[in-house]
Amino acid sequence: MARERTFAMIKPDGVRRKLIGEVIARLERKGFEVVELKQLTIPHELAERHYREHRDKPFFRGLVSFITGGPVVAMVIEGENAIHEWRKLMGSTNPKDAAPGTIRGDFALTIDENVVHGSDSLTTAEHEIALFFGASAQR
Ligand code: RTP
Ligand code: MG
Repeated sequence: MARERTFAMIKPDGVRRKLIGEVIARLERKGFEVVELKQLTIPHELAERHYREHRDKPFFRGLVSFITGGPVVAMVIEGENAIHEWRKLMGSTNPKDAAPGTIRGDFALTIDENVVHGSDSLTTAEHEIALFFGASAQR
């Protein structure tokens, strides 16, 4: 196990539904440290870069339109095994499969609006942290 940083985001549906406090309370309670945090509306170009791995998927346009459709809260969080542990707190991508007790399991019903995002690997985490916060936020 290693102390890691990952990129975490509260998506526009989470902000709209006033779940910022709920999500941050859960990750702080788990033991993560919030090392960077900002609210922003994601520009179209940044959204396309952030989700570039999905650019050929049928849901790509809808995904970009959703993620740019309102403010998000972007964070860098740090802790032991952070990438995996944050995704465990988030729950499965499709809320239908997400266990109760996870954020998606407790607060979402559909895959299109699943409240939170987390990097899925060390490489992705480094890339996403740099995209949203610049190289200085990496460690
Ligand atoms: P995210 O990147 O948003 O944290 O979610 P994830 O890793 O759990 O899932 P990923 O496969 O990266 O998909 C990114 C987002 O695209 C939407 N999606 N829709 N209609 C579909 O089949 C479908 N598949 C994925 C979801 O909103 C997912 O969070
Ligand atoms: Mg993903």
